[in-house]
Amino acid sequence: NWSMENFIDMEVDKVRQAVGDRKVLCALSGGVDSSVVAALIHKAIGDQLICMFIDHGLLRKNEADSVMETFTEGFDMNVVKIDAQERFLTKLQGVKDPEQKRKIIGNEFIYVFEEESGKLTDVDFLAQGTLYTDIIESGTDTAQTIKSHHNVGGLPENMKLDLIEPLNTLFKDEVREVGAELGLPDEIVWRQPFPGPGLGIRVLGEITDEKLEIVRESDAILRDEIKKAGLDREIWQYFTALPDMRSVGVMGDERTYDYTVGIRAVTSIDGMTSDWARIPYDVLEVISTRIVNEVKHVNRVVYDITSKPPSTIEWE
Ligand code: XMP
Repeated sequence: NWSMENFIDMEVDKVRQAVGDRKVLCALSGGVDSSVVAALIHKAIGDQLICMFIDHGLLRKNEADSVMETFTEGFDMNVVKIDAQERFLTKLQGVKDPEQKRKIIGNEFIYVFEEESGKLTDVDFLAQGTLYTDIIESGTDTAQTIKSHHNVGGLPENMKLDLIEPLNTLFKDEVREVGAELGLPDEIVWRQPFPGPGLGIRVLGEITDEKLEIVRESDAILRDEIKKAGLDREIWQYFTALPDMRSVGVMGDERTYDYTVGIRAVTSIDGMTSDWARIPYDVLEVISTRIVNEVKHVNRVVYDITSKPPSTIEWE
């Protein structure tokens, strides 16, 4: 008979028992799972928890600041922020292939994490937000290799840390419940899935600062309007993508030749299959008008109306 308060109390006890007066490291991504793990372990051992938040420069608008604020101010946690934007963007220069981009981002993430955690000499444990479903999925050999899904926070092989995985008996909805009980804000508890490679796979083809900026700004407008329309909990994922193409438009008396932004919004149960979300036309109209007016170098907005399969949710 599962009760959330019991669960939290029991896990807090277990963590205290296991850790004693030693220290725990947690890679914080801002996603639901790592956030709940951090909050839970912080409740158990306070300052003995060190969180590491790596900004790879492929996060959404205001995301890094908002994560830092939540955990350092809201929870008074010990969070080390690593600004690795330059490093990732340099490695990605000129790279066009989606799988190549994923590999570079995934590997770089591990290098940065190893390097930075190596500077912390007195840590004995690594906390991870592994869920029950993660264990089931990796236990079967039907694991999807269509895209090499890279989960931020994967354990570097040569790290001699003991794992703590307090969520490994839970399903996603239970994790959200625990998060809410621990006082995490709605924006984290109800956060939509966000891929490890971030905006890096939403700028199609080669990643440049200009293109990242277009995706980041248009995505912020989309999220803002979806929230205002009260649709943010019923749509599984909603974001913009930037195809590597330009088309002709007209602004005033002038011909323009600028980027097209794609809107992707899907309903889904688990991300394995999905349908396109029926966002009302008037909401789409506001989103389109705002993107074209507010985001430089965009003169066209299109809406993706394909299901998965045959499409995927992300465009890369
Ligand atoms: P697709 O695009 O394969 O996405 O239909 C299914 C779900 O997985 C997410 N996704 C990723 N997550 N690393 C991740 O951590 C990745 O490389 C990656 N690619 C896709 C996607 O956002 C959706 O929720």
